Formats: sequence, C-alpha cells, structure tokens
Amino acid sequence: MKLKKRIPVIDQGDKQGFWGGKFGGNFVPETLKKPIEDLEILFNKLKKDKKFINERDKYFKNWVGSPTRFIKLENLTKHVGGAQIWSKVVSDANGGAHKIYNATVHCLLAKRSGKKVICGDTGAGYAGKMLSMAAKKFGLKCKIFMGAKDIRRQQPNVRAMKKNGAEVIPVYSGSQTLVDAVSECMRYWVANCDKVAMCVGSTVGPAVFVRICGWSTSQISRELKTQLVDEFGSVPKKLKLYNCVGGGSSSFGFWNEFMDYDKKQCEFIGVEAGGPTKSKKHAAPLTYGSKIGILHGAAQYVNQNTDGQIEETESISAGLDYPGISPLHCFLKDTKRARYTAASDEEALNAYKLVTKFEKLRPSLEPSHAFSVAIAESKRFSKDTIVVVNSCGDAYKDRGIIEKRLGKKYV
Ligand SMILES: Cc1ncc(COP(=O)(O)O)c(C=O)c1O
Repeated sequence: MKLKKRIPVIDQGDKQGFWGGKFGGNFVPETLKKPIEDLEILFNKLKKDKKFINERDKYFKNWVGSPTRFIKLENLTKHVGGAQIWSKVVSDANGGAHKIYNATVHCLLAKRSGKKVICGDTGAGYAGKMLSMAAKKFGLKCKIFMGAKDIRRQQPNVRAMKKNGAEVIPVYSGSQTLVDAVSECMRYWVANCDKVAMCVGSTVGPAVFVRICGWSTSQISRELKTQLVDEFGSVPKKLKLYNCVGGGSSSFGFWNEFMDYDKKQCEFIGVEAGGPTKSKKHAAPLTYGSKIGILHGAAQYVNQNTDGQIEETESISAGLDYPGISPLHCFLKDTKRARYTAASDEEALNAYKLVTKFEKLRPSLEPSHAFSVAIAESKRFSKDTIVVVNSCGDAYKDRGIIEKRLGKKYV
C-alpha cells in the first residue's frame, strides 16, 4: 500500500471508493446508490469549477472568518522546556470549531442540487451547530440527529442549534452517542433522499462524504502553510503537527497540505480518545489495533467484539467518542505517513488545566487530548522543533463537564 505524491489523498481511492484497495467503499442499500452517484457527479464537477471555488473561498473568508490565528504559546513553551509549542486556533472560526467548513460546503452543494432540507449527525454538537448555522444562512430547513447522552452533556451546542431553527432529534438507541446519531441520520436519509440532502459530520460514511469533508477541512492546512512561511520563511525543517482524532476531519484537514513532505521533516501525530484510565472501553481503534469492519457504509478499523459486533466506546469527549475512524486515516496509518496514539480522559483534563493556566486559550476536551501528547513529547524535542497543535474547538460547550471534574475555577 503506497501513498502517491502530487495527487490529493481524497482522490487516491479507486473507482469503487476504496483507499489502499480496502478502506472506504460504499456499503449502502440499493436506494442510496443513485443519490450517492448524483452527489459524486456534482462534487467532482464543482471541485474543479473556479466559480464554485471562489464562492467557497468568499464564504470561508467573509463568513467563517478565515484565516484563523496561528500563535506561539510562549508561556507553555517556557514551562515545558523543549520544542516551541504553537497553536492553530481553529476555534476562532465562526461557531467555534472546524465543523463549519464541511457544513458550509454541504449547504452550498445542497443549494446547487435544488434540495430544501438538510439533515446531519452530531456528537459534541459542533457539527450540528455549524450545520444549523449554514442552513440558516443559505435558507435550508435543518434536522440534526444527536444521541440522548450527548444532548445531556453538550447543552450549550444544543441550545445554539435550536436557536438557529434546527430540529434536534434525540437518538435513544445503543450507547446514545455519535455512532447511534450517524446511524439514525443515515436511516432517515435512506427514506427521504429524494428531497433531503445529508451532511455527514466527519470524514466518515460512504466515500463521497469522506471526500467532501476532507476537501472542506483542508482549508486549515492551506492557511497554516502560508502562516508557517510568513513566520519562518519556509516550512520548518522539524515540524510536528498534533491533532485529536474522532472521525478524523480536523486532523486530515490540518495535515493535507503537508502530505508530500518527508515525514522526517513534517510528522503527523493523531491522538485518539483512550477513555477513562480505569475503564477497558476506549475510542481509539488505530492505537489499540482494532480489526477492519464495516461501519456507516465504509470499511475501516473499528472497535468490535469477536463476532464482529461494534463495541461501545467511552470518552469524556463527545466528539471523539466513536468506535470507527475515517478510511483516510486507516490509509495514512497503513502507509505509515501518520502516527497514532491515545490520551486518557484524565490526561486530557490535565492538559486543559495546563494550557488554560499558561495561555489565553481554552481548547475543548477534544483538542485537549492532542495537547496532552504534544506537551509530553515536546519535553524531549530540541528548541528548533516546531510543534503545532490544532486547537479545533472551544471549551464553552464543555463547561458542565469541566466544572464537575475540575471545579468552578477552571470554567
Ligand atoms: C471540537 C472538536 N474536535 C474534534 C472532533 C472530532 O471529530 P473529527 O475527528 O472529525 O475532527 C469534534 C467532533 O465533534 C469536535 O467537535
């Protein structure tokens, strides 16, 4: 299995939508074959269309607020005492997280296809919040599927979705988290695909959704590359890019523009959710060697039992609490382009404490996982190593959990 140079990774799948011949694909019911094919034709045409790209860039700039900041965390760097620690503050984006890029593009596509309604899944609530914002902006009706457990633990984002006029549909099946929300959203789309567009909230699902999402979030690394060149004169010789990994959309978008660089120069580190230290459950299929299975229409590494049934996950972070992983990341893992590891709930909370103690930055619990590993590893790196952490979400949505686990003074 090999990664090709000069071809975008989203376009390295085969005709059937498999990366490396085995990850991804379209494991969907017959009724979805035609809507998926139509979406593929539309996306393949528009992603080469200069007018569409200009339209996307206009909204990214004027509405999303691109570029987001790239800042040095000077106090944290001093405290850790190794590499220079920087952050790409993607939580600056309108709505407070990277999910806005995918939501915007999906709404633009829905408009082009004449659909009046868009549905989507959400875990941490950011994918839902952003879809509700974009739907409102572009005049679409919006339905969001969200696990009942996530509704309870991510209230600020639920309130935002409702304020934007979206219908939030609680999902009571299974673990009542993201995995169940995606399943329910896809069931709804199967029955309504003639009138309704679907936005999958991460680089998961049938191949075209993986590609649309990866194409949209790549805005992050396009900005970062320019910012690195502005700051250092060129892409640094020792660059390490840390990102949390749930379904994989922020990490893929954070790395995409640097894919062709040698990994000795530009290393990618994906941090999955290891779950509570005391629990056997986790949401880290790549770190803990899960087998390949089918989830949400795609072949991927996925947590499963010996019968192949999808296993329940556990994580303090609703956005990472997912048993599967994007086929793009399975491909990056098997081609050894990216390295994957995990941080526990407790490690993420400690990293949140440290970052907020030293910096005016409040990473949500998802990026706090990435900060945990970046801080631990930075200690042993030289001072000319540039560590960049994608702070892809704001912690406002997590205030209830943070107050309960760390006390009022950290909120
Ligand atoms: C702030 C934030 N970061 C990360 C994630 C994980 O998703 P992904 O891996 O697709 O970026 C989520 C998902 O909801 C999120 O809200």
